[in-house]
Amino acid sequence: MMRPDPFADLARFYDGMMAHVDYDRWALKSGILAEPLEPGFRHLDIACGTGTLMDRLRRQGWRSIGMDLSKAMVAEGKRNRASFTGVVADMQALPFVNSFEFATCLFDSLNFVTELAGLRQAFSEIAKCLIPGGLFYGDIITERMVLAHFAGQEWTEENGQFKTTWSSQYSRTERLAETAVTINRGHHSSVRERIYTLDEIESCIRDAGLELLGFYDAITWKKPRKRSIRIDIVAAKPPVPVTKKRYADIERKVQLWLC
Ligand SMILES: C[S@@+](CC[C@H](N)C(=O)[O-])C[C@H]1O[C@@H](n2cnc3c(N)ncnc32)[C@H](O)[C@@H]1O
Repeated sequence: MMRPDPFADLARFYDGMMAHVDYDRWALKSGILAEPLEPGFRHLDIACGTGTLMDRLRRQGWRSIGMDLSKAMVAEGKRNRASFTGVVADMQALPFVNSFEFATCLFDSLNFVTELAGLRQAFSEIAKCLIPGGLFYGDIITERMVLAHFAGQEWTEENGQFKTTWSSQYSRTERLAETAVTINRGHHSSVRERIYTLDEIESCIRDAGLELLGFYDAITWKKPRKRSIRIDIVAAKPPVPVTKKRYADIERKVQLWLC
């Protein structure tokens, strides 16, 4: 049975709650990664939420569209952003075939798929929606992130016009984090995220017929370490559209830009 949309009540507060989030960082990394693609490439932002990243990229002239499972998030994006172009869909059943040169799935949206079989299916759908020679850029949060910043913690954030109270639990056996969010004293929502190992992600990528170009600590863009809290993932649908040398230059450019 499908779970009710955990973002149904959160959607209209989402942009306010995420006002502190550095979306420019994702936009810049996306821009560097997309450099090898021909101008005019088509971009799909998977799990686009209210379209914050898509909006930044479209304002730079990108041909971006988004998709998200949450009707409420898509409706909120449409309500607030004239640029919002997106559909309601599940990343485990994408309504596109061979349609995009570039796809992103950021802000740990992959962790919201809480079964490994579902994640495997999502990567197979990502591969299906890319043209051969297309690129994928996504990210996941790690167990380190959950243990350091969420598990067993309660906190309150002032978000300008409203206040959010957060409380999070983590099951190490199931690798499942459940975070309850209360807006003021009213709307109460609960979001679940599953933690995956890099081996699991790599096997999903391989089974989907994608080629992994790299896993990176999202802060340094060096190899992930035990202390990494967010991992960036770059993969390509063969033939890989960039030589090894050019890709090494891209890695260096991201690293230089981040430090
Ligand atoms: C943390 S939000 C990130 C949203 C957006 N990427 C951003 O950066 O603001 C996670 C998003 O994943 C979406 N999501 C969760 N499961 C999904 C699925 N199976 N297919 C598509 N979107 C999904 C949620 O609806 C939500 O909008």
